[in-house]
Amino acid sequence: MSSFVVVGGTGRTGRRIVGLLTDGGHDVVVASRGGARKLDLAAPDPAVFAGADGIVLCVEPPKDAPGAEAVMHEGVAGAAAIAAREDIPVVLVSQIYVTRAAEHPEMAARIEARARGEQSLRDSGAQYTIVRPSWLHDLPTTGVRVEQGDTGEGRVSRDTVAAAAVAALFDPSASGKTFELYDDPESEKAEWTTVFAALSPDPEAAHA
Ligand SMILES: NC(=O)c1ccc[n+]([C@@H]2O[C@H](COP(=O)([O-])OP(=O)(O)OC[C@H]3O[C@@H](n4cnc5c(N)ncnc54)[C@H](OP(=O)(O)O)[C@@H]3O)[C@@H](O)[C@H]2O)c1
Repeated sequence: MSSFVVVGGTGRTGRRIVGLLTDGGHDVVVASRGGARKLDLAAPDPAVFAGADGIVLCVEPPKDAPGAEAVMHEGVAGAAAIAAREDIPVVLVSQIYVTRAAEHPEMAARIEARARGEQSLRDSGAQYTIVRPSWLHDLPTTGVRVEQGDTGEGRVSRDTVAAAAVAALFDPSASGKTFELYDDPESEKAEWTTVFAALSPDPEAAHA
């Protein structure tokens, strides 16, 4: 049995991540501003992460630019620094369009803060995986299409995102990789170890 911290574990995807981990017999700390363990990612408290075997960051950014910067860049960087120091693997749930924020001017500031947060995690020295969901929905999961390079468009089930995030926590072949997730009814359900093994590692110290 291992112990995991899910920041944003009260959210719609976060709850699914927590459920998969607890179903697997693991201890889970559900951390968020209103969670069982109070944590604002803008000010990550090392005590929340102490002794964890893995961290999932699955947090909805504030809508305003300074708030998004404080949470999705500086907060992610702070959590990544703690994880690197304590040798705890991190899975960051991000989003598509991180490398092409200009295509969504209404949310560009939030997306750009996310991009800086992603890169802080890559640069932190922590073991990490970055999962970039396309547009989320709550329908049952279908097959999945996994891409890299952030060029696609589509939707993905929150169930699929949760399954990918949890699989990445346990699979060293997901480490150092960034990928996008899309529903694909034509595909089989993912066999995550095979999927992760086929992905390219992130270029060192460069945006994926
Ligand atoms: N909506 C989409 O189509 C879409 C597409 C791609 C990616 N995403 C991303 O996928 C992830 C999951 O999305 P979702 O819709 O499932 O999330 P959600 O239901 O909106 O839940 C968001 C979670 O973030 C927590 N949170 C917000 N601010 C926080 C802070 N400062 N510190 C700690 N926790 C905080 C919330 O809890 P508290 O309020 O208790 O803090 C909640 O648990 C998010 O990162 C989202 O941005 C969404």
